Amino acid sequence: VNTRPAESQAPPPLRLPVYATPFSGRSAELAQIVALLSGSDCRLLTLTGPGGMGKTRLAIEAARRLFPQFPFGVYFVPLAALTTSIELINAIAEALNFRFTTASKPERQLAAYLAARKGLIVLDNMEHLLTSAPLLVNLLAQAPDLRFLVTSQERLALSGEWVFEISGLPYPGDQT
Ligand SMILES: Nc1ncnc2c1ncn2[C@@H]1O[C@H](COP(=O)(O)OP(=O)(O)O)[C@@H](O)[C@H]1O
Ligand SMILES: [Mg+2]
Repeated sequence: VNTRPAESQAPPPLRLPVYATPFSGRSAELAQIVALLSGSDCRLLTLTGPGGMGKTRLAIEAARRLFPQFPFGVYFVPLAALTTSIELINAIAEALNFRFTTASKPERQLAAYLAARKGLIVLDNMEHLLTSAPLLVNLLAQAPDLRFLVTSQERLALSGEWVFEISGLPYPGDQT
């Protein structure tokens, strides 16, 4: 009888939005983002730039390429409609399919759940939630294999945050 939990046998989820149009250009940026989040130092990378610049699209494409490195999976959490820390915690939990119990603070339960899991979470449109951003640092401190790729019009101004500014070059920028 196999007594291992089902999770260890199921393939890791790749939960990212799919676009009808192909991704184009941005090959240099993609390579840099993938390299940063593959390395040992960068665990929280924020893509910044004005709306419409291609941050979300770039984050999703980078996350797709990083998928093989994250055995717990890659998850996308849209934040545009959220305004509070508890909504942020709930949205992350929902994306992971994690259910809270009544036992302790949701943030602590989520941190405990993520503690031993190597996952990549894409947080899209974090600019509305800058005051809740320190929560991400707490999660990272308790979950050593967790990484965040964030899109935001403004940097989060967190310790340990790496900022990647998306330039205004039109995509497809590196077509030949
Ligand atoms: N590299 C790309 N290849 C194809 N379409 C892109 C690319 N970058 C952006 N787009 C398209 O341009 C629009 C705006 O991009 P988006 O990523 O939503 O910008 P932002 O998140 O910075 O507001 C979207 O429709 C998106 O699909
Ligand atoms: Mg966006």
